[in-house]
Amino acid sequence: MLVTIEGVLQPPAVAQLRERLQAAHWVDGAVTAGALAGEVKRNRQCAIDSEEAVIAADIVESALRRHPEFITAALPRRMVRPRFNAYGIGEYYGAHVDASIMEDTRGGGPIRTDVSVTLFLSEPEDYAGGELEIETGFGMQQVKLNAGDAVVYPASSLHRVAPVTRGERVASFLWVESLVSSADQRALLYDMDCSIRRLRQTAGNAESVLALSGVYHNLMRMFAAG
Ligand code: NI
Repeated sequence: MLVTIEGVLQPPAVAQLRERLQAAHWVDGAVTAGALAGEVKRNRQCAIDSEEAVIAADIVESALRRHPEFITAALPRRMVRPRFNAYGIGEYYGAHVDASIMEDTRGGGPIRTDVSVTLFLSEPEDYAGGELEIETGFGMQQVKLNAGDAVVYPASSLHRVAPVTRGERVASFLWVESLVSSADQRALLYDMDCSIRRLRQTAGNAESVLALSGVYHNLMRMFAAG
């Protein structure tokens, strides 16, 4: 399940974040890739311990945590501190699957990566190529969103970033350990929540809507128990 989260950051916040990132220290992206992934990764990343990157990461994380659509799609328990990458002309990230366990830079032990998140920070017209291509049960989906919008997808998915052929693609990326580790169960809960919210608009708090909400929460209880 791919879910697009619109308006995680508004345009002025994106502009401020981009400015901040320009002042940060950038390194070769291959340093944080595994041995295998390093061979297919050509990009640059913000040094995760640079002060500017830490402030920028906090801005992204709190914006996500405030966004109800993100919460219902990802059902976060814990998150890896957001990171930032940039792809210039000729840079790309070949097909790979993200590591299943990540060490968060804030301590707190290993985090299981259930959900991958990419928050786009460049407007689509400012670069060519650079699509995030995600393998799904319905084939390869190409994702290229407005600056400030994010995509949430199962971290188990094979994915790649197509080569950039013009301009520069800047994004934030992170992983979530979800309350519900199964992607199928998360998708089911998300679909149900969307339907209940739509029903509420016409049926208000009718008894049947309240009953369905009860089913949603009982399923969540069951799935979150593992
Ligand atoms: Ni990846």
